[in-house]
Amino acid sequence: MKIGLIRPYEIEYNNQDIIDLDKAIKSLGHVPKRVYIDKIGVSMDRGRIDVTHMVSKNRPQSLGIDCAFLRHLGIIKDYEQFGSRLWSVRAIEQSGTLVMNNLMSWLMASDKLASLSTLAKEGLPVPHTFVTEDMFSAYREMKDEKEVVIKPIRGSMGFGVFRASDPDVAMHIFSYFTNLSKPMYLQRYMEKKGGGDYRVIVIGGRAIGAEFRKGKDWKSNVAQGAIPRKARMDDEMEEIAIKATEVLGLEYAGIDIADTREGYMILETNPTISWQGFKKATKINVAMRLVEHMVKRARE
Ligand SMILES: Nc1ncnc2c1ncn2[C@@H]1O[C@H](COP(=O)(O)OP(=O)(O)O)[C@@H](O)[C@H]1O
Ligand SMILES: [Mg+2]
Repeated sequence: MKIGLIRPYEIEYNNQDIIDLDKAIKSLGHVPKRVYIDKIGVSMDRGRIDVTHMVSKNRPQSLGIDCAFLRHLGIIKDYEQFGSRLWSVRAIEQSGTLVMNNLMSWLMASDKLASLSTLAKEGLPVPHTFVTEDMFSAYREMKDEKEVVIKPIRGSMGFGVFRASDPDVAMHIFSYFTNLSKPMYLQRYMEKKGGGDYRVIVIGGRAIGAEFRKGKDWKSNVAQGAIPRKARMDDEMEEIAIKATEVLGLEYAGIDIADTREGYMILETNPTISWQGFKKATKINVAMRLVEHMVKRARE
């Protein structure tokens, strides 16, 4: 089977996750293939969609893959660019190729507003969260809450995530957000038992393991210096992680859960996940599990 790895050409580097996937694909007797999202062509005629790939300077070639992992859409600088990359992945799906995670689920799960509102609607535990483009509404929310965590909606690795308790200091920042056309994502600050949070990795409806990550301060991102270690998950945590993955329509995900005074709370969902910390802490070969699941689904 030819298994695509969808990512941008513009920032190509073989990070360890991609190297792990390459290795797993080859060791299971399959062939990995880079699919550069910024080198794709979509051609359509009545009743037919073809996706091509410009690999050399000659002619675009047919993608020639059986299925693909959606890893990264690149650094987006323009709304139309975002649209064209998104819907090119949709075209790969429309041309009959299994994409994992599927585009719509990937899009929702990587967006903190879309994912948390979907989880909340389905009755899953999430911290009280408020999102707006209106700085006066955000100010009002600050007055109602004692302490708030403010985050980029599509951020990761803890970058740009900060705490605020003074509504007027926050208002000052909100006015800059407004000038930059940035929405404001405000979430109640939750004290975490053990001072860190859990990540449960779910693949194909099964929780394959969990890690606990504890940082030097209140943030638990490995990218911010947090140390991951293997964790035991109880039935409730497992159930929450599996249900969250299912509700978002994901084939695999990392579900981040905090253990708070009010019980477990989902902080975010990750439809791409980097598993280096998890691999070290749990000795579980995530790439291998992912490829096995992909092949099984592609053969169905
Ligand atoms: N509501 C919250 N209360 C307490 N800590 C939080 C809250 N939200 C996030 N954090 C901490 O901040 C870190 C980064 O936030 P997160 O929502 O995971 O964003 P990112 O996508 O940047 O990782 C998390 O690992 C978590 O420990
Ligand atoms: Mg996080």
